[in-house]
Amino acid sequence: MSKPIILTGDRPTGKLHIGHYVGSLRRRVAMQNEGIYDTFVMMADMQALTDHAKEPEKIIESIGNVGLDYLAAGLDPAKTTIFLQSQIPELAELTMYYMNLVSLSRVLRNPTVKTEIEQKNFGEGVPSGFAMYPISQAADITAFKATHVPVGNDQAPMIEQTREIVRSFNHTYNCEVLVEPSGIYPENETEGRLPGLDGNAKMSKSLNNGIYLADDADTLKKKVMSMYTDPTHVNVADPGHIEGNMVFHYMDVFGQTEDQAQIAKMKEHYQIGGLGDVKTKKFLLEILDRELRPIRERRLELAKNMDYVYEVLKKGSEKAEAKASQTLDEVKSAMGINYFK
Ligand code: TRP
Repeated sequence: MSKPIILTGDRPTGKLHIGHYVGSLRRRVAMQNEGIYDTFVMMADMQALTDHAKEPEKIIESIGNVGLDYLAAGLDPAKTTIFLQSQIPELAELTMYYMNLVSLSRVLRNPTVKTEIEQKNFGEGVPSGFAMYPISQAADITAFKATHVPVGNDQAPMIEQTREIVRSFNHTYNCEVLVEPSGIYPENETEGRLPGLDGNAKMSKSLNNGIYLADDADTLKKKVMSMYTDPTHVNVADPGHIEGNMVFHYMDVFGQTEDQAQIAKMKEHYQIGGLGDVKTKKFLLEILDRELRPIRERRLELAKNMDYVYEVLKKGSEKAEAKASQTLDEVKSAMGINYFK
């Protein structure tokens, strides 16, 4: 049997933060190293342009940054094909064929797209490319015949729509060319969405409440020291709350086995009273720094040679295109439109 295939990706709309890291990047690195999968990781720059068409600079700049984040976090180009969506024209072609198999009302019923349309205040109207992006995402996934797609819960509708397209295509053209993928979702709350430093449910650039893989040691310290804790814990002697206290939440997310005893002790002490926020923050800083320091150092080193980073993306895109082109050939053959073959 051939290897199971993983395809996943991110919209390059800024540097990656530690929420991306615990939510997906760390797991991708682990899966890559298990060696049982063929792994593809894509920067979805075409998809990012569906709502940034008039500010491409932001996407262009993010390509270099996300490339650095990927490599610094441990994605290894010898094991994972890292590539850029826009450099694979086959993906756009597949999208055109798939669009004919999906009704307009089905596209507009996608709950994630619906929510995004409400949130994004598209001034001049919703770009049609934006409404169609789940179909293009189906092309991303099926071009590589991905069997597994690790994504956040908000992406479940995309996987469902991809599965529908696969069934419809194979049925319509009486073939078994396309493969139905399964989503792999976060196993628990810890792996799910990481709240911001301020306690907001979302860590995001616009809220200015994130820690970035690119942050230096000083910035990391300042950010940890500014974290939202427990507003009722005014004096050190007061009993404090763990629930909703970001310092303890992050300890739970980032603490390793060796930290568990100390975390439990601090939680108990904090709730009784007598443990100050500065002490809990210092301990969290130790935990975070241990995980982030090697990434930060590798990132600084890699950033000295951006030519290398772009070379990785170019090679990866060439390799990805070879695979996508094979699938497109099969798709066109199944449809009977490979006229000159
Ligand atoms: N929509 C995904 C996100 O916003 C990014 C993405 C594009 C993707 N194409 C994909 C994820 C294919 C997985 C598979 O996070």
